[in-house]
Amino acid sequence: MKNWYILISWLFISSLIITKTWAQNSTEDQKMQWFKDAKLGIFIHWGIYSVNGIDESWSFFNDYISYDDYMKQLDGFTASNYAPEKWAQLIKSSGAKYAVITAKHHDGVALWNSQASDLTVVNKTPANKDLIAPFMDALEKEGLKKGLYYSVLDWSHPDYDRKTRTKYRYKNDPERFQKFVDFNFKQLEELSSTFNPDLYWFDGDWEHKAEEWRSKELKAQLLKWNPSVIINSRIGGNLGDYDTPEQGVPVTKPDSKYWELCLTMNNSWGYQHNDDNYKSPNELLRIFVDCLHMGGNLLLDIGPKPDGSIPDEAVNILESFGRWTDKHAAAIYDTQAGIPEGHVYAPTTLSKDRKTLYIYLDYKVNESLVIKGLKNKINRIWVVGNGTKLDHREVGKQYWSKVPGLKYVDIPDNVYDKDITVIAVLLDGEVDLYREKGQVIESN
Ligand code: GLC
Repeated sequence: MKNWYILISWLFISSLIITKTWAQNSTEDQKMQWFKDAKLGIFIHWGIYSVNGIDESWSFFNDYISYDDYMKQLDGFTASNYAPEKWAQLIKSSGAKYAVITAKHHDGVALWNSQASDLTVVNKTPANKDLIAPFMDALEKEGLKKGLYYSVLDWSHPDYDRKTRTKYRYKNDPERFQKFVDFNFKQLEELSSTFNPDLYWFDGDWEHKAEEWRSKELKAQLLKWNPSVIINSRIGGNLGDYDTPEQGVPVTKPDSKYWELCLTMNNSWGYQHNDDNYKSPNELLRIFVDCLHMGGNLLLDIGPKPDGSIPDEAVNILESFGRWTDKHAAAIYDTQAGIPEGHVYAPTTLSKDRKTLYIYLDYKVNESLVIKGLKNKINRIWVVGNGTKLDHREVGKQYWSKVPGLKYVDIPDNVYDKDITVIAVLLDGEVDLYREKGQVIESN
């Protein structure tokens, strides 16, 4: 009798726990849905560092320039040709669904009209106005999601224990440091209440522990201001919603459910007149496709000039993205990570219902493309954005073997896209793959 009682209570409690985690997961999934589907975002590093064209904040931290000389750039930051609506239109036409702009980088210069700090572009530069506000409005008008980059460390703030500038250290004066953290909370309250961003892109957490930043409390507070705000991984203490690999393109699929690769077009985040090492549109599109294949997003960076104009090379890249994403929309936004390596020698994705396999070809195949280990029947194959129907044939299938035959798809020369050609393969059901090592007749 007693045993029954224990068993029933145990079952009851575990079902409560399962329902609770399930509910948490599904609200988490709901919150992350737009991000998961967005695939492409544009990162904007805009700040006084564009005046001399030097590394954002790091140039004084690393002593490539003195702090005072770095700050002299304030005088040259005019924003005189700033056209936030045009920025938003250009971003939208690239196929991106969200943008993330540096509200404040490690140098501490706020791009909005912060009341908590004197160091703002409104007070200290000839731009003399809030630069975040009109951009947030423009993004909203274009139906794009609004992201704000915010550096939790601030190498200008008197209460921040910057290694190369102030003598005091957190350990010797934690109270003073907490004054600084309060300041972060104040600035973030301003940002949340004024702009209600959809996403916060934190940075700079590496200089302190999560407890010192009060990351948990901060996250709770941000969610109080906006329960559906998405937070990247760099808030400290593993509290973020998604991972942010940087510059290095992942080779195998990252483990996290949600992730975003942030990437520069040349070798700099901000505008640097001397850096013309741009990746070509084709190279960048291929990186984008790699992200799609591994189920992640690409956050592609631009660095506007001090007057607010966007360098021609960046405009050209965004326009090239626009051409390709517009033509291939069906194979971008409604997809999930593709099938494992080994079946096709190209990146792939799957439609949400897992019944369409998309294959991305950045090369011309000789004679025919081969798909291995596909158990499904193929109902139809076509070239995305072009419509041409393609034939296929199955070769090498043995009646006694479980190993599927090789499916050959002939691709005529005239259907290729100049950057990446996408082949859609409609299956007779959810994708079903043979993942074993082959078979001999005796084992049948
Ligand atoms: C790094 C750098 C920073 C840059 C960021 C973008 O964290 O510190 O300068 O803004 O990457 O991902």
